[in-house]
Amino acid sequence: MTTFREAWDAALYGPSGFYRRERPAAHFRTSVHASPLFGQAIARLAEQVGVSQVVDIGAGEGELGRVLRAAGLDVLDVELDDELPARLTGLVIANEWLDNVPCEVVELDAKGDARYLLADETLGDVVSGNDLDWLEKWWPLAEEGDRAEIGLTREEAWAEVVARLDDGVALAIDYGHVSTERPSYGTLTGFSRGRECPVALDGSCDLTAHVALDSLATAVSGQLTTQREALLALGLSAERPGQELARTEPLRYLAELSSAGEAAELLNTSGLGSFGWVWAGTASAVRRASRALAA
Ligand SMILES: C[S@@+](CC[C@H](N)C(=O)[O-])C[C@H]1O[C@@H](n2cnc3c(N)ncnc32)[C@H](O)[C@@H]1O
Repeated sequence: MTTFREAWDAALYGPSGFYRRERPAAHFRTSVHASPLFGQAIARLAEQVGVSQVVDIGAGEGELGRVLRAAGLDVLDVELDDELPARLTGLVIANEWLDNVPCEVVELDAKGDARYLLADETLGDVVSGNDLDWLEKWWPLAEEGDRAEIGLTREEAWAEVVARLDDGVALAIDYGHVSTERPSYGTLTGFSRGRECPVALDGSCDLTAHVALDSLATAVSGQLTTQREALLALGLSAERPGQELARTEPLRYLAELSSAGEAAELLNTSGLGSFGWVWAGTASAVRRASRALAA
């Protein structure tokens, strides 16, 4: 019997998998759909790190790249059938990629052993080796029925990207959790047409699980902050224009009001603002990124 992770991988990326057939933007809204302000902030980050090249991994329909090119950056979009270059320079970004990297789901049984979840949602072998080490360190389970999602596949995928950097910074942006707030039953979720739906392994929906952000940051010797803190440090503001402007320059007032609304969505700590930003890479580029991202 295949593990849940293997079935998840086939459901998203197999020959008739979800991402082989569907347009991501038809199913969910990410920061790049919320507002061009997101990409403009990323462009400021690139400028402050001193790079002009950006690689967007898991670029979807290339919405972020369009904003970055308009800001004068040279952008490479990388999607499923593209080869990631062997060596990378500049800013590498992955917005909501790692939550779609399938991971092992495990559950504590009645005897107190963590076991792998299988494709038919029964429990298989007892968790062992690196998976068990990861579980004990990052997401210890307490009671029968508790579930965890082992972060190693995401960390390996991201470490592989960071290892290719000759000079630059890799920034992973995703929803997730840290040790102090792991959910007892895991976060595995299906998405279809903009709504949560039952988890199905037939390729009919997106399947995602939150990223263990602290463990990810540790795996790549990186740093972690929230999207809200990062975007505020990069100069984003949700301040509404003053009423005076409505009288003197109504069109500008409306444009600034709409922009303040978009910024508020990107900064909202109940939504996109709570996402984690994890950055890592070569020493001097990371130092410059850390200066840019620390308010
Ligand atoms: C949730 S979507 C995010 C799209 C976009 N970054 C955004 O913010 O809207 C995840 C994307 O990652 C892509 N993806 C998954 N695995 C990948 C891989 N190994 N290499 C490149 N892209 C991948 C999927 O095809 C999908 O378009």
